[in-house]
Amino acid sequence: AGAEVEGYNEPSVNSHVNGEYAKINWDVLGFGLIPTDYMYIMNCSKDQHFSQGTLTPFGKIEVNPSSGILNYGQGLFEGLKAHRTANGRILLFRPEENAMRMKVGAKRMCMQAPTVEQFVNAVKQTVHSNKRWVPPPGKGAMYIRPLLMGSGPVLGVAPASEYTFITYASPVGNYHKGVLNLIVEEKFRRAIPGGTGGVKAVTNYAIIYKPIAEAKAKGFTDVLFLNAEKYIEEVSTTNIFLVKTTSARYYEVEQITLTRWYELELMTMWYELEQITSTRWYELEQTTSTRCYELEEITSTRYLLIVKERAIPVGELFDAEEVFCTGTAVGVNSVNSITYQDTRIAYKRGAGTVGQKLYEMLTGIQTGRIEDKMGWTVEL
Ligand code: COI
Repeated sequence: AGAEVEGYNEPSVNSHVNGEYAKINWDVLGFGLIPTDYMYIMNCSKDQHFSQGTLTPFGKIEVNPSSGILNYGQGLFEGLKAHRTANGRILLFRPEENAMRMKVGAKRMCMQAPTVEQFVNAVKQTVHSNKRWVPPPGKGAMYIRPLLMGSGPVLGVAPASEYTFITYASPVGNYHKGVLNLIVEEKFRRAIPGGTGGVKAVTNYAIIYKPIAEAKAKGFTDVLFLNAEKYIEEVSTTNIFLVKTTSARYYEVEQITLTRWYELELMTMWYELEQITSTRWYELEQTTSTRCYELEEITSTRYLLIVKERAIPVGELFDAEEVFCTGTAVGVNSVNSITYQDTRIAYKRGAGTVGQKLYEMLTGIQTGRIEDKMGWTVEL
């Protein structure tokens, strides 16, 4: 215990030796588990560090019936993707960010977490050993699922005495089938102030099965949740962005300076997209919401995309021209319609929309088609 994993250890198993690709129909991938060859497991005791883990054939694990995860939901998950490029490289997208988010979540859930290096090493080993399951370029991605769980026995309500970290992987295609028609959920809430909505606790997800099932029974694709004050919160598995177009003179936006990392990133993406060479940054209003975003396009002598994160009242769904969802599983997906209190609001989709441009940009970087100037991709 306590040993740090240094760098990336080349796994001894190479699943691709028997053929470059697994023999499945790569044209029909959805978002469901296709079991792959190996998973990576690492254990530790409470107040100790994770030690070196091992690759083992993907399959069932033994779990104590009295474990923290089974009894009290002491668990976190992550999700990230690996893509194959046209020239055969395999790229991970920002795995350190997932590792850091797991560390933050582990604090909230009173769990031990792997170090960033251990997390990234586990992910790399998992992808490497399952290489033949990384879809061919353009056919999808490998979705990697890191799981952290309280595996030690508990009976009283308290943190478990042991923790297990597992990563497994599955090839995936699009998360949503067909166009995205959302319904605003008014009865069920998924997060409360001070709760676990801000971390990827496993317990955040089973509670949305019922509203999703009800929405699907009415013909909708997914659910848009509101918070208790009727501000937009998030779609069941994705963030949501509203796009509004405004005309403004350039100087009016010059006083704004970006501060938050994701705003910087989006802004940079936009600069890249529009081939704008200026490197001015703009500050935006500080807000309380962590999950909703509003993009405001400002058309002037220069074309700028201003990103604001703020609490958005549900009524503003009527003012948006375009809405899109973002997330690891979903990527960037434009919303076709949102139904709120029996009124269906239709949005722009397709060529020329912000959602479409960001989709092209994101998938371009992830698959090596567009140069990664941000250092977001990590080659296996
Ligand atoms: C994500 O894409 O970030 C998710 O959490 C989706 C997962 C629940 C399938």
